[in-house]
Amino acid sequence: MSSEPMIPMVDTLAWHGLIQKELKQAATRVLDSGRYLMGEEVAAFEREVGEFLQASKAVSCANGTDALILALSAAGLGPGDEVITTPFTFFATAEAIVRVGATPVFVDIEPETFNVNPVLIQEAISERTRAVLVVHLFGLPARIQEIQLLCEERSLLLIEDCAQSFGASVNDKMTGTVGDLGCFSFFPSKNLGGFGDGGLVTAKTESMAEQLRVLRNHGSRIQYQHECVGYNSRLDEMQAALLRVKLKHISRYNEERKKVAEYYRSCLQGMDILLPAGQEHVYHQFTLLTDQRDQLKECLSREGISSAIYYPMPLHLQPVFKGLPMRQDLFVAEQVAQHCLSLPIFPGMQSSQVSRVAETVSGFFSQEKEDSTYWLAGAIS
Ligand SMILES: Cc1ncc(COP(=O)(O)O)c(C=O)c1O
Repeated sequence: MSSEPMIPMVDTLAWHGLIQKELKQAATRVLDSGRYLMGEEVAAFEREVGEFLQASKAVSCANGTDALILALSAAGLGPGDEVITTPFTFFATAEAIVRVGATPVFVDIEPETFNVNPVLIQEAISERTRAVLVVHLFGLPARIQEIQLLCEERSLLLIEDCAQSFGASVNDKMTGTVGDLGCFSFFPSKNLGGFGDGGLVTAKTESMAEQLRVLRNHGSRIQYQHECVGYNSRLDEMQAALLRVKLKHISRYNEERKKVAEYYRSCLQGMDILLPAGQEHVYHQFTLLTDQRDQLKECLSREGISSAIYYPMPLHLQPVFKGLPMRQDLFVAEQVAQHCLSLPIFPGMQSSQVSRVAETVSGFFSQEKEDSTYWLAGAIS
């Protein structure tokens, strides 16, 4: 057992340490304004976040799950429609598809990136397919431009789940702006993490953005007139004001995450990462694969270091999705779920913490049997 203080997966207090004053000023501004919903802070946040992402339109909402539900609803998806997606993601991705009445069709992932395999998307398209919902998992963009071409060719909608990829880009285009709609989460641990729940949808067109605004507000454009059944899904003024503060620092935060990842990689020798050209990874997670996963997790825990399994069960194996149509074998997702382990990574992580994690992991592998292996997310060979 280590006598050192525990290293958490994310330490929000360390992360926010340098901006406490700015955060308190923003919170006080909202308290003093007396306006808590749909006011100036939300309008300013939508404008500023849209500029940062270079998105045509940005519509905020209550959380990332709602962002997906609103996007799928605004796109008109519902019963009888199939949406192709990945089985290796947080539950909300597929939950949102089912929530609007459509059917998720899972296709397998690439072992190198943990993201959906574009070739397999093509194979899963049926006459009922209406959309592809791509997840940029752990901060690494999926092969979105290839998928966009495919969607264009086959007249499918492309929706991006960017809950874990705020600030990631492909050829200078931010994730969330390649497809028709992009869905973001501001859950506290996310790259742009808020102080409670929050979400956002980016849209290519004003008509889609308007539909999102109506849907998030009970299907209403004019007070007490309801043109459709919508949702109550608004970002509040306090979240917007605090997120505006963090947005100013997001590039630095993502740089800090990259530095931690670079250090981890430099200690795990022979595992240099080769990202596909033009890709900007923002390391929401630093995840490795190893056939000694449980032993490594135990070893880290003995040393007072947190680690997490994202995700232990792919979605097609979840009890609730047992009856879904299966178009293909999802072997890679199953393997990855059995071998993945994420290490602590967050802005504000001290260099002594980073080296303690890296030394413990490399020490573990150097003591293991010769045949023990490990790989890193994004290590394209
Ligand atoms: C890939 C993915 N999609 C969607 C969500 C849902 O976001 P929220 O928790 O804000 O509803 C998350 C959050 O963990 C996520 O990681």
